[in-house]
Amino acid sequence: MIDNKIVKQIIDEVNIVDVVSEYLPLTQKGKGFWGVCPFHHDTNPSMSVSAEKKMFKCFSCNTGGDVISFVSKFEQISFQEAVVKLAKRIGITINLYNDPESEKKKIYYDAMEEAANFYEFYLKNSKEGLAALKYLHERGISDEIISKFRIGLAPNGTNYLHLALNEHKIDMVVQSELGLVSQNPQGEIVDSFRNRIMFPITNHQGSVCAFSGRIFNSTDKTAKYINSIENPIFRKSDILYNFKNASLQARSLNKMYVFEGFMDVIAAYKAGVTNSVATMGTALTRNHIKSLLGICDNVILCFDGDLAGINATKKANLVFSEFNVMPTCIALPEGLDPDDFLKKYGADALNNALSTGALNVYDYLFKVAVDNLMIDDVKSVENCKQEVFSFLRGNVSKTSVEFYLNKLSEILNISLESLMGDFGSVRVEHTPNTEDNIPTKVVTRKRNKIPNKVFKAYETIIKCVLQDKKLYLEYVKVIDLNIPNVELIPYYTVLLQIGDYYNQNNNLNAVDFVENYYLTDPDRELINKIISKEEIDANNIDAFRQCLKTLYNFFMDDLKKKMLEDVKNDYDKYDDYLMLYKNKTL
Ligand code: UTP
Ligand code: MN
Repeated sequence: MIDNKIVKQIIDEVNIVDVVSEYLPLTQKGKGFWGVCPFHHDTNPSMSVSAEKKMFKCFSCNTGGDVISFVSKFEQISFQEAVVKLAKRIGITINLYNDPESEKKKIYYDAMEEAANFYEFYLKNSKEGLAALKYLHERGISDEIISKFRIGLAPNGTNYLHLALNEHKIDMVVQSELGLVSQNPQGEIVDSFRNRIMFPITNHQGSVCAFSGRIFNSTDKTAKYINSIENPIFRKSDILYNFKNASLQARSLNKMYVFEGFMDVIAAYKAGVTNSVATMGTALTRNHIKSLLGICDNVILCFDGDLAGINATKKANLVFSEFNVMPTCIALPEGLDPDDFLKKYGADALNNALSTGALNVYDYLFKVAVDNLMIDDVKSVENCKQEVFSFLRGNVSKTSVEFYLNKLSEILNISLESLMGDFGSVRVEHTPNTEDNIPTKVVTRKRNKIPNKVFKAYETIIKCVLQDKKLYLEYVKVIDLNIPNVELIPYYTVLLQIGDYYNQNNNLNAVDFVENYYLTDPDRELINKIISKEEIDANNIDAFRQCLKTLYNFFMDDLKKKMLEDVKNDYDKYDDYLMLYKNKTL
């Protein structure tokens, strides 16, 4: 517990004007100071800060309080944490952390801080550092940026960091738990990162909690980036790179950019866009989104223009919809990432591209779906249609569904009714009856009952592809029919997501998929149910192939029925179907 006397002392002795002006610019007018309020979107200086009254107050959004509440609100830390922080300014050290858990965390943070200092020093003061600096300078990363992002270098030697940490009396177990060192097969303690340019990753309060190390030698054939292992103070799914630094600007502009790589964050910084963060090579999670929405209303996703990036956008959108928020998206031309774009077109062009051209997520996904459409190719048309359907199947209002199906109908030159039918629901017009005027109803289109063996086949396939990437690749090759039946959508999406996981990771199996991948609760439940089914043997390849066959036959049958139905009305459709068949092989 914090003594009330200390709270009072902080409010009395700490100058609130000094503190606030460390977070945002204040201008003096008469006796008072004024600034742009960081707690709502504003461009006018509506917030007054008074050293005399020891208070701040925004006359626009009404947020106000003392210096402790300012710091706690701004940094999104607890009242106690804010007190501890401010107490330091008046020379009081409060040991909030009598619980051993937090004490231990402090030891970890101290160790990471030492490591960051060591790497920074080594970059600037070693012979190897010259080559690394040359690489950085050639990539347009100036000394100012190196200092700002605390970029460093891990030496090529066996255990330099280890020795340096020992000298700072950092426990060997701590070094190892943090993934800074590890044991080689000979049992010697060696540095985990060697000969890599080091980017410290800070948590959302600004303390270093992990590193990412990049190769800088073209002869180095190991992984481009290596990230710290997850450790007691680092969970990839909670951390966004650069969050603390970006939050000030993000608050005042009420928007934040989210990129895929931290080189993109640095590129954006060069282009004058400082409100940007990056995921750590994972999908955007619920926790990430909570952090983002805690400081601004507008999140702009700017992922790579490749398939993985598009899938990441789709998935992020699903998670955003749980918060009833619609993100916006930017697709840079030519599928370039911000860093490549800057290299090619310069800082001003990047700034311009990021400041304009954001589309709402549906417009973005719609654009992606129709971008590669070949209107004369029925397969391409079918793919495009399914792409649009797939994002409309999320948490989308009826109005939006109709809006995009209408657009699609114009582009594909296919009637809205037919698209609606395919989408899974058709409007059934009831003849108005004089007695009771039955309103137009939307009913789910009835399909033939799906045989149980199809569900079973899906389950086996899912269990197997989680075990082995090769089997996943076999699955995609055979089943690209992309015609999900409403009841099969959960299986189909789960498989899509597993594919996405393989796209993002170099792993040969996906056993940590459920744990490390963002999944909606129903999807997670479904997978857990499947994994726990003992009658499925994930090592039985023959059974797996048999299941592929079952699915293949089912989809072909379905297609055939649909064809017979369609061709009855329009004989020309027969050719289209022939085309579709030709493209599928088992
Ligand atoms: P990218 O390969 O898009 O990186 O990976 P980049 O930002 O363009 O990097 P440069 O320009 O080649 O230096 C995006 C993110 O994926 C993770 C990293 O977090 C990276 O920032 N990643 C990538 C890894 O973790 N390991 C890798 O080997 C590659
Ligand atoms: Mn890049």
